[in-house]
Amino acid sequence: MDTATKARDLLTRRKSGHSLPQPFYVDPDIFAMDMERFFYTDWLFATPVCALPKTGNYVTQRVGAYSITIVRGSDGVIRAFHNTCRHRGSILCKGASGKVAKLVCPYHQWTYELDGRLLWARDMGPGFEPKDHGLKPVHCRELSGLVYICLADQAPDFDAFAALAAPYLAPHDLGEAKIAFQSTIVEKGNWKLVWENNRECYHCAGNHPSLCRTYPEDPTISGVSPDGTFPEKVETHFARLEGAGAPSRFRLSDDGQYRLARMPLLDGVESYTMNGKIAVTKRLGRVPFLDAGSLMKFHYPSTWNHFLSDHSITFRVTPISPMETEVQTSWLVHKDAVEGVDYDLQRLTEVWAATNDEDRRVVEDNQQGILSPAYEPGPYSPTHEDGVLQFVDWYCNTLSARIDTLRVAAE
Ligand code: FES
Ligand SMILES: [Fe+2]
Repeated sequence: MDTATKARDLLTRRKSGHSLPQPFYVDPDIFAMDMERFFYTDWLFATPVCALPKTGNYVTQRVGAYSITIVRGSDGVIRAFHNTCRHRGSILCKGASGKVAKLVCPYHQWTYELDGRLLWARDMGPGFEPKDHGLKPVHCRELSGLVYICLADQAPDFDAFAALAAPYLAPHDLGEAKIAFQSTIVEKGNWKLVWENNRECYHCAGNHPSLCRTYPEDPTISGVSPDGTFPEKVETHFARLEGAGAPSRFRLSDDGQYRLARMPLLDGVESYTMNGKIAVTKRLGRVPFLDAGSLMKFHYPSTWNHFLSDHSITFRVTPISPMETEVQTSWLVHKDAVEGVDYDLQRLTEVWAATNDEDRRVVEDNQQGILSPAYEPGPYSPTHEDGVLQFVDWYCNTLSARIDTLRVAAE
């Protein structure tokens, strides 16, 4: 059976309100299809802009078979390119990040301008046209201090997401940020299990002692409110923040791919710290209150984020194999905040470092149990797991719509 037929058959047999059939979490063919239909098709979060503060700063990113380099040009523009030389294909930028004057291939030193033009190639003969051998571009957009890329030849619309997200992000001044700390972990679980775990807090009380000091278990905080209503307390929070100029109300895209909402944390809590008080005294952003809660943004399939009154945290999800997923977390603080003076790194990072590790463990346990032939899809809690259901519905609906679309091969 070909993969499209297999996937269509599995989608037909899927029990609504239940976790997915086993092959969606383990099968190499389904995984390859996920990469093609989602990660090689959709806009993906790449990096906070502040990772590229100066001309020549670059970061590299691996997405499945692709390697991409994202670099700031001498004109200040951030561009993304396929990280493969137009001579015989060597990788160009080998490090995870760095700073270069030009992009020089390590093999035969073909030299590219930071905007991708080939500047120099030794002894290539009279007919050789440098202009025909520039780096292949990858779609790249900057959104309020966040860089997104898209590997598709024809990128899907980004403008609707950007228009919705920009006013929510504006008060966080991510353009003024620096990365205080970045962690990259690999969870031995399918990327959809990482997302399912992220989209509920049913597991929080039993697994996240640090996070539970500040994060409410109220399912409306993590979930999607299928009927569009929120408890009075949450409505009061929205009204207070919006009255002070910070867009906050819950918004979900029509297709379910992204959400923005500034949700309250526990009463009196300001930030994700062990005592609930801010972690950074020189705050990043202009959110009108310290207890503004967290602006929670997800954008499937690659990122969820928390933007707080004193700092922000970005998360990037990248599948590595059917049962391995990389999660990169970046803690952003004001660029002028001084470690040891304005913030303590341990205090800033300890709650989410612990939470990430706890989530890694539950995702890995989930994957191991699903590998058993005895696994069968089980029911999601309608009270606590409507967010998970929203994710798997988005996944299944999107996959169903894309199963038969043939990706146009890269030129
Ligand atoms: S492969 Fe890059 S210069 Fe030869
Ligand atoms: Fe969790």
